[in-house]
Amino acid sequence: MTHSTLLPPALVPSALDGSVRRTGAAGLAAALGAASGHWIDLVGYRAGSRWTSLLDPSVAADVLDPSLHPELAEAQVWLLSWLPEQGTPLHDHGTSSGAFAVVAGTLTERVVAAGRDGVRESADDLAPGRVRHFGPHYVHQVTNSGTEPAVSVHVYIPGLTWMNSYAIEDGALRRTGTERAGVDW
Ligand SMILES: [Fe+2]
Repeated sequence: MTHSTLLPPALVPSALDGSVRRTGAAGLAAALGAASGHWIDLVGYRAGSRWTSLLDPSVAADVLDPSLHPELAEAQVWLLSWLPEQGTPLHDHGTSSGAFAVVAGTLTERVVAAGRDGVRESADDLAPGRVRHFGPHYVHQVTNSGTEPAVSVHVYIPGLTWMNSYAIEDGALRRTGTERAGVDW
């Protein structure tokens, strides 16, 4: 996609002149989700565990006009598929902010926040087109509780370096493990 070729160079909006609104991970996830026809054929499905794959930055740059999405340069994009009942443990994303967009199927997101009075939980079923975004240390669990395979696109800024997993014990979040980039994925 080359929107920039439609405008003379002097009129091309850029992050430098302030004419492009930074949309963050949520804007990127929404745009990539809306353009899923460009990458859906890259998605695989795996019976043993969720299928995950980094989206090559050059593919993301082909799908989205980088001049309109300056955050793309610092973002990490993952494609995920979820067969029925596949899901994550409760986890955070380290110090990364992020967002994900549901492209096919339905994903259930359980969000847990720890406070002085214990943990608060909420859950939501996310149909195609739904986007959730979050800041560092956000704790959630995502599951395909439907009957159809689900596909989602996830954006992290900066890229994931570690993720902690959690359990709820005695009314509090307890860290049960840590996975690190380059070691566990
Ligand atoms: Fe997550």
